[in-house]
Parts: sequence; C-alpha cells; structure tokens
Amino acid sequence: MEGIGIDIGGSGVRIGRVDLGSGELLAPPLRLEHTTDTPAATILEGMTSALTSFPADLPIGVGFPGVVRGTVVETAPNLGPTWAGTDLAVVLNRPGLVLLNDADAAAVAEHRCGASVGELGTVMTITVGTGIGTTLHRDGVLVPNLELGLLAHPSRGGVIESHASGRARRQEGLSLTAWADRFQEALHLYEGWLNPDVIVVGGGITERWEEWAPHITTKADLRCAQHGPDAGLVGAALAALAL
Ligand code: BGC
Repeated sequence: MEGIGIDIGGSGVRIGRVDLGSGELLAPPLRLEHTTDTPAATILEGMTSALTSFPADLPIGVGFPGVVRGTVVETAPNLGPTWAGTDLAVVLNRPGLVLLNDADAAAVAEHRCGASVGELGTVMTITVGTGIGTTLHRDGVLVPNLELGLLAHPSRGGVIESHASGRARRQEGLSLTAWADRFQEALHLYEGWLNPDVIVVGGGITERWEEWAPHITTKADLRCAQHGPDAGLVGAALAALAL
C-alpha cells in the first residue's frame, strides 16, 4: 500500500510517495522552497497545487515543526505567527489528512522501520536541524508534542535548542566537536529527566555521525537514525495509515 508524506520545514516543503510496508520512497520527493518569512497562506497554496499531481485517494500525513492538535497547528516557533490556528485538513481539502509534529513523524519512521524497530521501554528520538525535535515512545506508544528543545537551558540562558541545534552551530560557527559538547549537555539533561533506554538521533547532523558520536556518552543505547532527511516525510505517511 502507498501513502503521501509531507514534511514542512524551515526552508521548504517536501512531498513524496511512500511504500507503507517498507517505508521506502517510491520516487524522489517534490520540493517547494520558502523562507521563514513566507506566509502560511502562500506555502499552503503551493502545496494545494502540488498535490493535484498526486493521487487524491491515498492516505496523506503531514509532519509540521511545532505543536499540533488533531489537524490544527498550534505553534510554529521557526515559521512565524501566520500558522497558528490553521486546519491543514480544511485548507488542503483532505478530510482524512493526519497531522503530527515533524520530530514525532521522524520517530514513527524509525520505530516502524528504522533504528528502533520493536524496541519497548522508553525510546527517545531526537532530530537536530533548525530546531531540536524531541520525542518519546513508551512501550511502542508515541507521546506527542514533547517540545523539550524549548525548555530553558539551566546554565547558558535561553532555550536548549538555541545552543545545541544545527542552526546554533551555523550561527556561532561551532566546530563539530564544539557542537557535540553542546549536544552532550542537552542529552545529559534529557537523560536526567526521562531515563530513556534508547536514544535515536536523526537530522542532517547524522551525515557526520562517525565524527561526532564518539564524543558523546549516554547511559542509554545511542543509535543513528536510519531514514536520514526523509524520516519526517516517511513517518508522516506511515502515521497516516494508523497512528
Ligand atoms: C520545534 C519543534 C520541532 C523542532 C524540529 C523546534 O523548534 O519547537 O516542534 O519538532 O523544532 O523541527
């Protein structure tokens, strides 16, 4: 069976067809570019017209970088104020659409057919990109909208993701090992609060896993995500089948 996965990010939207059995992309995803200043309405118009080239009867899931409830966006910390209150199922005219946080979507992909397949106990999946996405599966059940990247950093001021995200690394010109020290701090906090058994790390930073992961120590079993940049898209499509 096939589904459509959509990943809404800070600089673009990716839409792809996914095999819901294997979690594989059936073709390279379509990409629509935007900036953090592009209004939600403009991005959604682009998505509506792009979706006309996809079959109308397939399950469709959307990963969004903020808190979501049902099919409505509540927050969009990296995309500006124009998203809050948007009902994606209504605006995109897809009544069966499933909406979930982008990191939650990535965690679904890793749990259904990636780095944490079959894991019970507490599995934390963390995505590192513009922000830090944090997610928990407990005995295979996802606890949505965790948002632990936005918790206050206990010693540096600001929130955790403003020090340990990919954007922080770029903005401050941090070397990979300097960033790894920041990420270690974040992991130490998360382990103290949640005591996960397994931690899966995803996002663009995993392309250089071999270089930074040896600098990280965790009590939990630390694993590299398997779906790379496609995790959010794939997981959204998988979640559309049954969350
Ligand atoms: C947002 C999260 C999102 C994460 C990764 C954070 O800034 O608050 O909702 O999952 O970025 O995109």
